[in-house]
Amino acid sequence: MTKNRLQEPLPRLDINVQVRQKILPYCRLKKGEIWQDSIAGHQVGVFDATVSNDVSQIFCGQSAALAIQDPPYNIIVGNHNTQGLGKTSLAEYIEFCRKWIENTLSILAKDASLYVWLGADQKDHFQPLPDFMILMRDYPDIVSRSFITMRNQRGYGTQKNWMAVRQECLYYVKGNAYFDVQAEYTDIPKILRGYYKKIDGQLKENFERSKSENIRAGNVWVDIQQVFYRMQENVPGCYAQKPIKCIERIVKASSQPGDCITDFFAHSGTTLIVGEILKRKVITFDCDEIFAEITIRRLEHFRKTGQLGWQCANPFPEVGDLVAFENEVDTPEQPSTRLGEL
Ligand SMILES: C[S@@+](CC[C@H](N)C(=O)[O-])C[C@H]1O[C@@H](n2cnc3c(N)ncnc32)[C@H](O)[C@@H]1O
Repeated sequence: MTKNRLQEPLPRLDINVQVRQKILPYCRLKKGEIWQDSIAGHQVGVFDATVSNDVSQIFCGQSAALAIQDPPYNIIVGNHNTQGLGKTSLAEYIEFCRKWIENTLSILAKDASLYVWLGADQKDHFQPLPDFMILMRDYPDIVSRSFITMRNQRGYGTQKNWMAVRQECLYYVKGNAYFDVQAEYTDIPKILRGYYKKIDGQLKENFERSKSENIRAGNVWVDIQQVFYRMQENVPGCYAQKPIKCIERIVKASSQPGDCITDFFAHSGTTLIVGEILKRKVITFDCDEIFAEITIRRLEHFRKTGQLGWQCANPFPEVGDLVAFENEVDTPEQPSTRLGEL
C-alpha cells in the first residue's frame, strides 16, 4: 500500500495528477529532448522505447555493449502517468515488447548482452514471462544464456500459497559477449557444505577447493535487499526502483570500463548511477519527463554528496511541501504487484 507520509515525501509519481502538475514545470527535458552530461558523456532523454525514431535519435549511430531493460507491466501500455492502474491484454503487452526489443537489437553492438527484468503473474499462467520467452525465439542473433531469480523480500505473506518473493531476469547474448562472473562474488559467507569432488584421488569438500570466504553469484540472488524508505538509495516517488546491487552485478559481469551501456526505462536512474560508479557511459531514457528529471537529478545529487539516493528527502525541494498529497491514491507498490501476489 502507499508508504507512510512521514516516511516518503512524494506519492507514486506516475499517477498522482496534482503532484505531477506541480513538478512538471521543474523538469528540464520535454519529449524528444536529450540532456548531455559534460563530465562523463552520459545521455538522458525523454523518449518512447517502442518508437524506432526515438531510439535512433538518442543513439545517433552509437551502439551499446550491454542493455538492461526493466519495462513496466501490469499497467496499460502507453498510459504511464495519469489514468490510474489497469492491465493491458497479453497480446498488446507482447506487441509492446516486440517493439522495444527490436529497437534494442538495433543499437546493440556486434558482441553484446541483454538483460530483461520481467514478472510472472501466478494468477495468469505466469504471464507475461512465458510469452515473452517465446517472442525472443524470433531473433536468431540472440541466444539465451541464463534465467536469474532475485529474491524480493517485499512479497506478501499468505496462508494459502507460497509467499511470492521472486523477480525474474532473463539474460541473452549476441555474438561473443563479454562475461566475467569471477569479478562478482556475493557477500554471502560459505556456510553450506556438502559439495564434494575427487581431486588427486582424494574426496575434497568445496571449502577446501576455493580460497574465497564468500560464494560466487549463481543465477539465484538471495543477497540483495529490496529498496525501502530507510535505505539511502531510496528515491521517493519511484514505485519500481531496482536495487543498485543487482544492476551493479550485471554491469560488472557483462561490460567493461569505457563501454557504452543502456537502459530504455530509466525511472529512478539506477543504471545511470551504476554506470557512473563503474565508469561506463550510459545512454538512458524514460517516456515520462518526471522520471527523466529524477534520473538526471540522482546523478547530480550523487556527484555533489556521494549519496546514492534521497532516502526520505524530496528530490524536488523547490516545489515546496508536497507531503499533504491532495487526492492521495491508495495503490499497491510496483514490486509487490509485479510478483503477481495472490
Ligand atoms: C519498472 S520502471 C524501471 C525501473 C528502473 N529499472 C529503476 O531501477 O528505477 C519502468 C519505467 O519505464 C517507463 N516507461 C513506460 N513505458 C515506456 C516506454 N514506452 N518508453 C520508455 N519508458 C517507458 C515508466 O515511466 C517507468 O519509469
